[in-house]
Amino acid sequence: MIHNEVIDSMMNRKSIRKYTDQIPTEEEILTVVRAGQQAPFAMQLGSVIIQRNRETNAFKAPIQFIILCDLHRMEKVMEARGWKREASDIHSLLFGMQDAAYMAQNMVNAAESLGMGSCYIGAAPYMADKLRKHCNIPEHVFPLVIISMGFPAENPPVRPRYPMEFHLFEEKYPQLSPELIREAMKQMDDGYLEQDYYRNAGYMIPLSDKSKEEKYSFDNYGWTEHISRKMAQWSTDPDELLKKFKLCDLNPME
Ligand SMILES: Cc1cc2nc3c(=O)[nH]c(=O)nc-3n(C[C@H](O)[C@H](O)[C@H](O)COP(=O)(O)O)c2cc1C
Repeated sequence: MIHNEVIDSMMNRKSIRKYTDQIPTEEEILTVVRAGQQAPFAMQLGSVIIQRNRETNAFKAPIQFIILCDLHRMEKVMEARGWKREASDIHSLLFGMQDAAYMAQNMVNAAESLGMGSCYIGAAPYMADKLRKHCNIPEHVFPLVIISMGFPAENPPVRPRYPMEFHLFEEKYPQLSPELIREAMKQMDDGYLEQDYYRNAGYMIPLSDKSKEEKYSFDNYGWTEHISRKMAQWSTDPDELLKKFKLCDLNPME
């Protein structure tokens, strides 16, 4: 693998969940947001709210950003030109989420390069109604994700990823053989277990079905069990998020 300053900064990044008392300067904050703005965009549908209250911010971070998928601003621009958005909500949402996500990741990389750390918090869509009220978020604006940010008060190891053969496919999608799946799972689970990730976090996702016997402890509970429990047990109601989307009148089912 080639190394340079940009690659090394990306390769060394890890989510930071503990922050020092140092407050990022306005110049640092504006640099991060400006780098975010410069991400590729389909329609500049990403916007950002900054929150500076450590007491209420996730992980008590000095700052956090609510990353918004923002159709309202686009519609204002169109209105000024005498146009109305007729692009479907699902189209708008799909491209808006991409604009917001690429912007967000530019912000994360920029922060890393300035010696700051960050962590995404994925609950924002589920808190859409609360955030909407609290931050005056208008219709047609959807909170996609939160990013906590500040100077790191922890230095966790870089977290494992799947092996390249399980991630990069040459020309055609391959048959995922049982051996390849087993190897990939082993790489992830061994990696997380070596780092004692879940013991340090003090967290295992409990089994929803209480009749099932818990066979895992922090000695053998790895990433693939964790992520499987999440995807098997959480957010199973398809209407839950659709209702949240509806809150901003962006209902992809309509
Ligand atoms: C969309 C999204 C949502 C996330 N939500 C959370 C979260 O709610 N809480 C948390 O501690 N980490 C959250 N993370 C961070 C991931 O747990 C983290 O990126 C992943 O475990 C890999 O670790 P690394 O970032 O240190 O490489 C989220 C990441 C993404 C991209």
